[in-house]
Amino acid sequence: MAASTSSAQELPARIRHRFPILERLVYVNSCSQGALSDAVQAAYAAYLRDWDEHGAPWEYWVERAETARATFAGLVGADPDEVAVTTSLSAGVSALLSGLRFEGDRTKIVVSDFEFPTVGQIAHAQEQRGRRVVHVPEAGDATIPLEHFDEAIDEETALVAVTHVCYRNGSRIDVEGVAELAHERGALMLLDSYQAAGAIPIDVKALGVDFLAAGTVKYLLGSAGLAFLYCRRELVERIRPTSTGWFADEDIFQMDIHDYSPSPTARRFEFGTPPVPSIYAGIAGMELVEEIGIADIEEHVRGLTALLIEGVDELDGRVVTPRDPERRGPLVAVASTDEHALVAALDAEGIVTSSRDGNLRISPHAYNSAEDVEAVLAALARHRDLLA
Ligand SMILES: Cc1ncc(COP(=O)(O)O)c(C=O)c1O
Repeated sequence: MAASTSSAQELPARIRHRFPILERLVYVNSCSQGALSDAVQAAYAAYLRDWDEHGAPWEYWVERAETARATFAGLVGADPDEVAVTTSLSAGVSALLSGLRFEGDRTKIVVSDFEFPTVGQIAHAQEQRGRRVVHVPEAGDATIPLEHFDEAIDEETALVAVTHVCYRNGSRIDVEGVAELAHERGALMLLDSYQAAGAIPIDVKALGVDFLAAGTVKYLLGSAGLAFLYCRRELVERIRPTSTGWFADEDIFQMDIHDYSPSPTARRFEFGTPPVPSIYAGIAGMELVEEIGIADIEEHVRGLTALLIEGVDELDGRVVTPRDPERRGPLVAVASTDEHALVAALDAEGIVTSSRDGNLRISPHAYNSAEDVEAVLAALARHRDLLA
């Protein structure tokens, strides 16, 4: 605890000045949207300047998309050819599932009950194509034990889809454990890392996942409109998306309308014109995260979330997020009698949080300090009546 507290002071002191919003507000809502940095603001200005100065610098803009691809690949230990640049996590996962082959009796998609609607709904959309979806339930303590996956994954399972950190309660799945189970039974594994990327070090090879999707809106400090889909090299050419677009073609500028020849790389999961402004912003956000260091971010945020949990305990509130540091992400969920009223009450005091599913969500990042946590706890004490 002492070590985390000292890091909790050092990291924000180094970077807080890069995020102007922190001069006005206590911002602990990175699970919804990362705070705007000077770098991302400058990136948007650069986009407008480039457009104004050059008119239509598409070659440069396509090159920017390649930089975004390579930057994300670097952050998750992938090769750039294994990464698709998409406009949302939904887009990448839709393309993937549209092309995934379900051979023989393998008609089952296993999804955890922690999934974001994106993954749950896209999985259920496959029922129209004769697939079955099986949900893995959570235990009473906001975790999903491996045994639950063990019961659900079998020889008829084609794909197991899990979320790295649950957006509702901050619970962190045993990704390696689930990947091992999936592979043992011949299934593939998709990981939704949206609530983890930028806050938890990710190495797709070490985790053993086949596919991983994430976007730049949250802990990667970018803005809406940019996301990525990683697909393990050996699998890319086995998947032929039917949800597609011209930027997925093997030769985009051949403009061929007579056949479908997807790129031999993960670019085959892309659609149309890339989201250029979001790419400028996303590169700036990801580079900032890289500069701060994800391992340091994780350690720092872990210190802050430990302080938060301790403080909520002292208020006799109920922390929903698992207490084991290995089983929780950067988000702490606190049960509320009226979470919307609580978010509004905190907002009125200049503290930005969010809510889901009966819980207040407090989600610190590298730029938050121990003082921010103290401010949140003091406000929660004042609104104790709204804690369950
Ligand atoms: C875990 C998770 N997955 C997916 C999404 C949504 O992604 P997109 O809107 O890019 O499809 C979110 C956004 O909040 C999320 O938290």
